[in-house]
Amino acid sequence: MALPVVDTEYLKEIDRARRHLRALIAHKNCAPIMLRLAWHDAGTYDASAKTGGPNGSIRNEEEYNHGANAGLKIALEFCEQVKSKCPKITYADLYQLAGVIAVEVTGGPTIDFVPGRKDSKISPKEGRLPDANQGPPHLRDVFYRMGLSDKDIVALSGGHTLGRAHPERSGFDGPWTQEPLQFDNSYFVELLKGETEGLLKLPTDEALVHDPEFRPYVELYAKDEEAFFRDYAISHKKLSELGFIPR
Ligand code: HEM
Repeated sequence: MALPVVDTEYLKEIDRARRHLRALIAHKNCAPIMLRLAWHDAGTYDASAKTGGPNGSIRNEEEYNHGANAGLKIALEFCEQVKSKCPKITYADLYQLAGVIAVEVTGGPTIDFVPGRKDSKISPKEGRLPDANQGPPHLRDVFYRMGLSDKDIVALSGGHTLGRAHPERSGFDGPWTQEPLQFDNSYFVELLKGETEGLLKLPTDEALVHDPEFRPYVELYAKDEEAFFRDYAISHKKLSELGFIPR
């Protein structure tokens, strides 16, 4: 599906939304949950069925109540504040823009953002997002279904440089890095270090170190932040555009 060409009015609305999102994220310190919202809206994509993806459907009650989305209501409400000031922007664009800005304002790479996504009222069935308790085959099943690669899996997992797990949401607890509001390559540095008191490693994070195809990327990103930023920006853009070809 090609993206509809957006008009100049819409582009101005995107610019206004960018500014509101920057202010909101700085004020609420909510970059991590905004990035998680963007990823969970997009990460339901099924490339063969052409369903799911970054289409704003996570705002449907049915979908934000999926177990994997526990806690994301908070981010939906933050985005609603921006939507009320910029009513023309689609939810699908708004959530993806929020993810891009969350990475940018915490010191991460600039991610190219192309607007024009359409909103959908149809939510996919529960169970398309990855289960943190599983290993490499499951990660591959889920990300390959989206049309993404091993390199995308490792680069995008670097999103865990931000934020933390909350026992009441996922059953896991704690941040992955010492500075969970700083987007950098410390997630990979910590992965290679092994156990550090107070820091979290999900089974799916551990999987990246033990799998022979994933590990070289972990090693590269741990020693070369520039390489991580470059690959992350490419993979994040792909994730944010699943299901359409921007023009
Ligand atoms: C948080 C699982 C990939 C971004 C979490 C949490 C879990 C999880 C269990 C904790 C939720 C909570 O308790 O609040 C996974 C699994 C993945 C994955 C199994 C498979 C690879 C990603 C990707 C991104 C991402 C691709 C973004 C590019 C985040 C962020 C948080 C988070 C930013 C922190 C949210 C907060 O602080 O509220 N993830 N995730 N994750 N995830 Fe992932």
